[in-house]
Amino acid sequence: MTGHGLRGVAVPTTANPPERIILPDRETLSQEAARRFIALAQARDPFTVALSGGSTPRRLYQILAAMPGRVPWERVHVFWSDERCVPPDHPGSNYRMAREALLDHVPLPAKNVHRVRGEWAPEAAAQAYAVELEDFFGAPWPRFDLILLGLGGDGHTASLFPDSDTLHERERPIAAVTATYQARPAQRVTFTLPLINAARHVLFLVSGADKAGIVQRVLETAGEHYPASRVQPGAGTLTWLLDQAAAGQLDVPAQN
Ligand code: 6PG
Repeated sequence: MTGHGLRGVAVPTTANPPERIILPDRETLSQEAARRFIALAQARDPFTVALSGGSTPRRLYQILAAMPGRVPWERVHVFWSDERCVPPDHPGSNYRMAREALLDHVPLPAKNVHRVRGEWAPEAAAQAYAVELEDFFGAPWPRFDLILLGLGGDGHTASLFPDSDTLHERERPIAAVTATYQARPAQRVTFTLPLINAARHVLFLVSGADKAGIVQRVLETAGEHYPASRVQPGAGTLTWLLDQAAAGQLDVPAQN
């Protein structure tokens, strides 16, 4: 694996304007996300992707699982953009959700699954994950081909939460955090913003009317107040896939 390291190198700020695509509903949003995933996976060897957690991407994973031949799984390497610090068989594990919806149904070699050790203490898990990234990419600051992200109702993404010191992390690609959000596990391991912003492609998936208010604030009125607003891949593409319900309060029409 040749190094994709960006540490110490000024990432070109040829920021592409964010793409904003609105789909009728979660199903069509997930279908569009699968189409993009497949296209990117077919174009890269190896294809390095960080899956997102929560509930929104489950349908995307199920769609990919239903068409195993469309993705060259033997050359895909799967990571997670964040993980809850729980065992891999815990209901709150992002790994478990992805395993059940996708990994158990596709011919992805076990060595290509780069799971966060959620069963370890958070700081130990974070440090081990940073080492795993460096070992795989051959550099401490890898450039993922694709990072999937969701949007929390408070504007968080991955496990980067509002007013968290981790938002200012510039020295480490991975951090351990504690955050209370809904009834989800509080101890987490997360990609930091510099790692996310080094990606070739960042794809947000946001669905549901309950996200309409935060989508409008993140995309139109709140500047960089929210963690999700600070996802700006300087040398990559940023795409927001929204369903109509989540886009319901946007003033500016989407590009599609
Ligand atoms: C997590 C996720 C988190 C998620 C958002 C949206 O570990 O919880 O990575 O960032 O993407 O909270 O979650 P939903 O898709 O369930 O709304």
